[in-house]
Amino acid sequence: MRPVLFTLLLLGLCTPLHAEPLSKSEYRQAQRLFVALGCRACHDFEKSGSTLAGSLDRIGLKLNEEEILRRLQLAPEERDEANKYMPSYQTTPADQLKLLSRFLAARK
Ligand code: HEC
Repeated sequence: MRPVLFTLLLLGLCTPLHAEPLSKSEYRQAQRLFVALGCRACHDFEKSGSTLAGSLDRIGLKLNEEEILRRLQLAPEERDEANKYMPSYQTTPADQLKLLSRFLAARK
């Protein structure tokens, strides 16, 4: 195969695996959401916050954007033993949760 074609094919295959990087304003908005939604009340993040629940500093190594989003939107009755103290953010607008999930999934 010609190298150019091969490179294009590789790029095409890799693109969906990488979430779009956040713009500066999206990044700031996500940081504000993280504070406003009270995540720090239970989670440690960038050396501030509580250690009640796990740190979210490198959560992107464990969960991807969709998995984090799903976790935030789980209804109370869908929660298992490990997650039962994690509040449900079902009533928070989905676009805000999506942005927050993208922001967290990039923490590696
Ligand atoms: C009242 C305490 C509390 C608050 C507030 C809270 N969480 Fe959690 N969260 C938990 C607990 C408890 C767990 C399950 C134990 C763990 O994974 O540390 C959890 C789990 C998680 C997980 C899965 C972690 C993993 O390793 O699988 C994510 C992601 C998460 N929380 C994100 C958030 C975000 C984002 C917010 C703010 C929008 C938030 N949490 C607010 C208590 C909380």
